[in-house]
Amino acid sequence: MANMPWRSRAAAPRPPAGAPLPPPAPPGNRPALSAQEFQEIRKFIYAQAGIDLQPGKEDLVAARLGKILAGRGLRSYQEYLRQVRADAGGAMLAAMIDALTTNFTGFLREPVHFEVLRRTVLPAVDRRPRIDIWSAACSTGEEPYSIACATLEALGARAGGQVRILASDISTRALGFAREALYPAERIGGMPPDWQRKYLARDGEGKDAGWRIRPEVRRMVEFQRLNLMEPLAAGRRCPLIFLRNVMIYFDRATQEALVKRLMEQLEPGGYLLIGHSESLTGMNLGLEYVAPATYRKPGRLA
Ligand SMILES: C[S@@+](CC[C@H](N)C(=O)[O-])C[C@H]1O[C@@H](n2cnc3c(N)ncnc32)[C@H](O)[C@@H]1O
Repeated sequence: MANMPWRSRAAAPRPPAGAPLPPPAPPGNRPALSAQEFQEIRKFIYAQAGIDLQPGKEDLVAARLGKILAGRGLRSYQEYLRQVRADAGGAMLAAMIDALTTNFTGFLREPVHFEVLRRTVLPAVDRRPRIDIWSAACSTGEEPYSIACATLEALGARAGGQVRILASDISTRALGFAREALYPAERIGGMPPDWQRKYLARDGEGKDAGWRIRPEVRRMVEFQRLNLMEPLAAGRRCPLIFLRNVMIYFDRATQEALVKRLMEQLEPGGYLLIGHSESLTGMNLGLEYVAPATYRKPGRLA
C-alpha cells in the first residue's frame, strides 16, 4: 500500500461553517447527482484508476454510488467524494472502484487463450526451472487458477514447483475472494468435469457450501493488490501476460500508455493476451498481431 498517490493528498476543504447543507435524502431514496458532481467524480476516478466515465454514464454512477451514499447516510455526492479523498486507508476508494467496475470473470473464459498457453508458450519455455506468468487484472481468481490448472495439465505435477503466477487487481474485495478460493457451484461450470475432480474439493455445509481450489493449485498463485495506473515495480519479465477485459474501462491514450509499460515486463518473443472485445489496432506499440486478442513482442522465447 506504499504507492497510493491519494494517501499523501490533503483532504478537500470542508464547506465553510454555517453554509447550508443539502437536505437529508428521504429514506430509501438517494440524492440527485448534479452535472458538476458527475464531472468531479469523473475526474477523480480517472486520476486514481484510469477509469473513463464517459458522459451518458450519469445514471450508472448515480445508481451504483447512490447505494453507498444511502448506506452511509450521506446527503450529497460532494460530501461522499470529500470522505473518499480524506480516507487515508483507501478502503472507501476501493469500494468506489468496485462499485464502478465489474469483476465478471470465469474459469477458462475465452478458452482459445489457454490453447496459446498450452501449444505455443509452454513448449518454448518448459525446460526452464521457473516460468513466470502474470494475470494483470485477475478479479476473483478464476483466471489465474485456470492458468495454474492448465499448466498442471500440460506439464504434470512438476508445474507446481516450476510455474509462478502473479495475480494482481486493484480491487481488495475481489482479491479477498480470490485468496479464499471458494466458489459456489454455479461458478465452476466453465471447468471441465475432470478438472473439477482433480483441482476442486467440496467445502462447507448448506448455503455456505462450495468448491475450494486444492492447495497444490493455490500455492502456484501469488495475489497482490496493484493499480495498473501506478508505476509498475520492475519485476521478473514474463513470457506471458494476461491483460484481459480491463482496458474496456480506459480511454485509448491510457490503454496505449499501459500496454507500452507492460511490454517492459514481457520477454522478447513473449505473448500479451487481451480480451476479445478489446483491440490494439492503430496503436504504435511494436507488438506483432498473432491472432484475435493475441500479440507477441518481437524476438524469440529462449
Ligand atoms: C471484468 S474483470 C476481468 C477479469 C479477468 N481478467 C477476465 O478477463 O475474466 C476487470 C477487473 O479489472 C480490475 N481493474 C479495473 N481497473 C483497474 C486498475 N486500474 N488496475 C488494476 N485492475 C483494475 C477490476 O477490479 C476487475 O476485477
